[in-house]
Amino acid sequence: MDPASSHPAPALLPLISTVLLLLAPAVPAGIPLNLNWQLGSAYEEGYYKEGDFLLGAIIDLHHLWKALAINTKAKPCRIRYYTDEYLQHFRHHLVVIYAVEEINSNEKLLPNVTLGYHIYDSLAYESQAQKHIFRILSGGRNMIPNYLCSSGGVLAAFIGDKSSPTSLSMATLIRIYHYTQISYGAMDPIFTDRLRFPFFYRTVPDGYAQHGAIVQILQHFGWNWVGILASDAESDQMGSWELKGQIMRSGLCVEYLVTVSGKFSRKEGEQKRVESVLRRATAKVIILYNSSDNVKWFLLMNKRMELPDAVWINLGLDFYPTDHGFEVIFFNGSLGLSIKRGNIPGFTDFLYSLSPQKYPDNMRLKWAWSWTFRCHYNGTNPEELPWETLPCSGSESLLDLPQNKYDAYNFRTTYSIYTAVYALAQALHAMISEAPSKAKGTVGLKKGFQSWQLRHYAQNVGFATASEEFFFDEYGGRPARYDIVNWAVLPDLSVTQETVGHFDSTAPESQRLLINDSAIRWHHRFTQLPQSLCTEPCEPGYRKSPQEGKPPCCYACVQCPEGEISSTMDTDSCLACPEDHWSNQGRDQCIPRIRDFLSYEDPLSAALVCVALVLTLITVLVLGVFILYRDTPIVRANNRNLSYMLLLFLIMSFLCSLLFMGPPDNLTCQLRQVSFGIVFTGSVSSVLAKTITVILAFKATKPGGKLRKWLGNRMSFSLVLICSLVQALLCTTWLIRSPPFPDYDTWSVKGQIILQCNEGSVPAFYMVVGYMGFLAALSFLVAFLVRKVPDRYNEAQLITFSMLGFCSVWVSFIPAHLSTKGKYTVAVEIFAILASGAGLLACIFVPKCYIILIRPELNAREKPMIIRGDISAER
Ligand SMILES: *[C@@H]1O[C@H](CO)[C@@H](O)[C@H](O)[C@H]1NC(C)=O
Ligand SMILES: *[C@@H]1O[C@H](CO)[C@@H](O)[C@H](O)[C@H]1NC(C)=O
Ligand SMILES: *[C@@H]1O[C@H](CO)[C@@H](O)[C@H](O)[C@H]1NC(C)=O
Ligand SMILES: *[C@@H]1O[C@H](CO)[C@@H](O)[C@H](O)[C@H]1NC(C)=O
Ligand SMILES: *[C@@H]1O[C@H](CO)[C@@H](O)[C@H](O)[C@H]1NC(C)=O
Repeated sequence: MDPASSHPAPALLPLISTVLLLLAPAVPAGIPLNLNWQLGSAYEEGYYKEGDFLLGAIIDLHHLWKALAINTKAKPCRIRYYTDEYLQHFRHHLVVIYAVEEINSNEKLLPNVTLGYHIYDSLAYESQAQKHIFRILSGGRNMIPNYLCSSGGVLAAFIGDKSSPTSLSMATLIRIYHYTQISYGAMDPIFTDRLRFPFFYRTVPDGYAQHGAIVQILQHFGWNWVGILASDAESDQMGSWELKGQIMRSGLCVEYLVTVSGKFSRKEGEQKRVESVLRRATAKVIILYNSSDNVKWFLLMNKRMELPDAVWINLGLDFYPTDHGFEVIFFNGSLGLSIKRGNIPGFTDFLYSLSPQKYPDNMRLKWAWSWTFRCHYNGTNPEELPWETLPCSGSESLLDLPQNKYDAYNFRTTYSIYTAVYALAQALHAMISEAPSKAKGTVGLKKGFQSWQLRHYAQNVGFATASEEFFFDEYGGRPARYDIVNWAVLPDLSVTQETVGHFDSTAPESQRLLINDSAIRWHHRFTQLPQSLCTEPCEPGYRKSPQEGKPPCCYACVQCPEGEISSTMDTDSCLACPEDHWSNQGRDQCIPRIRDFLSYEDPLSAALVCVALVLTLITVLVLGVFILYRDTPIVRANNRNLSYMLLLFLIMSFLCSLLFMGPPDNLTCQLRQVSFGIVFTGSVSSVLAKTITVILAFKATKPGGKLRKWLGNRMSFSLVLICSLVQALLCTTWLIRSPPFPDYDTWSVKGQIILQCNEGSVPAFYMVVGYMGFLAALSFLVAFLVRKVPDRYNEAQLITFSMLGFCSVWVSFIPAHLSTKGKYTVAVEIFAILASGAGLLACIFVPKCYIILIRPELNAREKPMIIRGDISAER
């Protein structure tokens, strides 16, 4: 309960009503405004308007001057109010008056109730703010704690202040009296504590909400290497550490976090320390962490400090569009977060309509006029102006000022104050509509009002302004909505801010940050989007490799291993190519592997084809010669038909080598091994049959030998047929159970895919080959054993030789086959086929052709004894 209200005070302000002159013709919006003020000493000036319910507004117009005062040790009361910036700040008072007048003239909002106000300037001093609170509690002019020296309106709530420290000192005091307080600028997260500050509300978001926006901006521009310059104010210290943590948690890195003291120290150390950090730094993005005044004053006091060319991101830093005496040029092209601008209908017109002629009693306006137009207005003391002045002509107009000097369009703080007034009016309206004492009229309402009542209605307030839906969140604040502004320093060193984007924490994740990149004008040293990275990004083909002891943003780039690629910049890991692809030279693309197989175009295969064809041709010729001379003894010796068969098998084996060329497909894979197996079994078994024929021929020469009848085609054919049939059976089983199929091999040779035939079943393959080897070994063995058999044409010896050659070719084939890769494996196989076939041809048939063609005298029927086998063969 407010103790003051129980002590009706003597009317100490009899003059109030007389001071309230009804002024001014209607402003463009049609609202008559009273811009008169109470008299008082220079810094106690304020505005007052009587009403049924009163708002106590502590509105800081001079926060910059607080810093000046601290640094120059001047007393607050000595500070001259009026500067170039004054006209900009002045509206923070005017907007309260404007909003109250608007509400009073609104029939729907607070009908039959008039709203009044006390407005004072805190000068950004806690002590000033508290003094004004006591003054307002005491009814206005005098400060008598716990006494109410006025019988006027009932104090309903407080508005204020801008800065967090003054708002905090206000809150601790106001809380005792249970008044609702709405700050229009305090962003300190401390205020989210609803137990400590149950009566505190604010029309700005919590300061830490900016951190999320900063991180998103950094990510948007791809900056991962930033520096932070923070003020030494306690809240900024905590905030900047928190920001640093949040940046690092999102995978970006902070190169340095330096603290600058807002107190101007004459020690050189401070400047040197900061300068040396900044000079060594490589980050091209510097975040100025708030406490506008501290950082600003640091910069102001160290005018000649060398700042690097960088993109500054300013949090909470306000510059006003006038000369600051320091190098604002560094901030050309910087980005800032500003609370979202809002519309105040009619207020722009009202601001442009201001003039001292219209409000002749308002001294502040006269001073502001003198400063803005560099003239001397009637009523101001020319000695207090820093320049020799001519009297103002009276025709000066705000409309003549450029917009960067007098911006009556972008209302941010002004809008915050405006919504604060409206929120209180709406809460009051809601409270009055529910009040039981309503029946007794306004007097009853005033009597029944308890300060603590309003809080409940303020929490639940909800209304629409010209630009948004207004409500308080559960912590008494507002959702984080910011404008992203781009500062431009004009050649005359004035600063303008362009809105280039928005951040809205209530939007879906992907739409929180909207930035129009093309609208941003960067610092004049940067010709394009500045980069701020610890290391150059890794090119495609490389991946990041973390370095021990360094922040994660500072990495080395290592090339992807063979067979893996990275196609984008800055990847964490390389991707393996699909199986039939391989990395290119630059490791940034997967290219199809080189398909490796023995193609027909290959010179090697061309040579092999030639050899195969030549050998086939020779065999055909030999066959022709044999058929032509079929009745000569040498052809008839040792079974003529077996020779034909062997020759035919050789032709087939030479031709089957052609099957091994070309890309493998299902048919060729199956044909290859099977035809090779059967044809060679046929050849080898023919040779075996021939050897046996030789033995039998020899045995048959012995008298009484019964074997004669066994000599003959039937036996030979049956042998060849049986051997081949066994092989064919093996092959058929193989084909049925697990046939060979085309396959590829990607690991033997880098970058190639070897097309080959997979045997399907390795045991089957070895059985086929082993069977063939067994037959070959058998023929060799038998021929070796009978090599001494007397034979006119040395058949047994020739067979021994040929089998020796045959076996050695295939034995040496094994290591050659194992040590070659890709198409050469196939080539070796073809070579072995051709070589072994050629060996047989050369050993068995060439000597006979020699005799037939060159030494026909040896091919005569002179020694029938020896060629007895032929006689039987003829049967
Ligand atoms: C306002 O006052 C008038 C006259 O006293 C009364 O008729 C009217 O109902 C009041 N309006 C409200 C909303 O209380
Ligand atoms: C930034 O500084 C201003 C003025 O000093 C203050 O009101 C605001 O709360 C600060 N913001 C943050 C995030 O600390
Ligand atoms: C200043 O005041 C004088 C006398 O009071 C008056 O004559 C003059 O017109 C005023 N000038 C302006 C610009 O109002
Ligand atoms: C972005 O800015 C450019 C330059 O100011 C402007 O032409 C363009 O319309 C803007 N785009 C959007 C989507 O606002
Ligand atoms: C600021 O930068 C803009 C372009 O980015 C340039 O045109 C302008 O001249 C710069 N201002 C100063 C004072 O150099």
